[in-house]
Amino acid sequence: MIPVLTIDGPSGAGKGTVSRVIAKQLGWHYLDSGSIYRALSIACLQQKIDLNNPKEVIKIAATIQLEFKGDNELKVKLNGIDISKQIGLETTANTASIVAAIPEVRTILLQKQRAFQQPPGLVADGRDMGTVVFLTAEHKVYLTASAEIRAKRRYKQLIKKGIDANLTKIINEIQARDKRDTERKTAPLAKATNALYLDSSDLSATQVIEKILNFIR
Ligand code: C5P
Repeated sequence: MIPVLTIDGPSGAGKGTVSRVIAKQLGWHYLDSGSIYRALSIACLQQKIDLNNPKEVIKIAATIQLEFKGDNELKVKLNGIDISKQIGLETTANTASIVAAIPEVRTILLQKQRAFQQPPGLVADGRDMGTVVFLTAEHKVYLTASAEIRAKRRYKQLIKKGIDANLTKIINEIQARDKRDTERKTAPLAKATNALYLDSSDLSATQVIEKILNFIR
């Protein structure tokens, strides 16, 4: 069985940064599952589909073509067109959480995610990696932090990328997204029973990485 390390948790807990470093250190593949929902919402908006119309969103989910390249600076192509810039925007995170709440969309996108399980191993980052997509994964982590700390981290990341940001707005959006992600009926954000619980509020990325590497060793 190809080993899988799942890292689930709310927005801004540091999953992306930590997962990329761990995947690199282990020489494993990396799945940023959020980018799939993000890309789907971009595809819907490009085609002027109402995100609150599940039937139309489901049709798009069944037809999107995605290509991922690179480890650190992820390059994403949607139906052959580069969407790497748009995919990282806060507005895209919000629209992603709307399409991600549609059960049929989640079922359609399961195979795309499971296809990432390739030798020698996979680090999978998301909300339901350990509870649904890779239920039998050997190693599971639930990484979280307080909403304020997560918002501050997101704010810094955006400013660093030269993207205009407003901290209060980010806190409100993160809380709204947390609510949508934890309260939805299908595959809500939750800690897998056998996952290691890590609160990164007072930990540096390096400390979190060390704890996870120790855990899987
Ligand atoms: O992880 P990221 O912030 O890119 O995810 C954006 C949104 O996509 C999340 O707020 C969540 O609604 C959705 N998502 C999900 N399941 C995943 C990954 C992301 O529902 N495995």
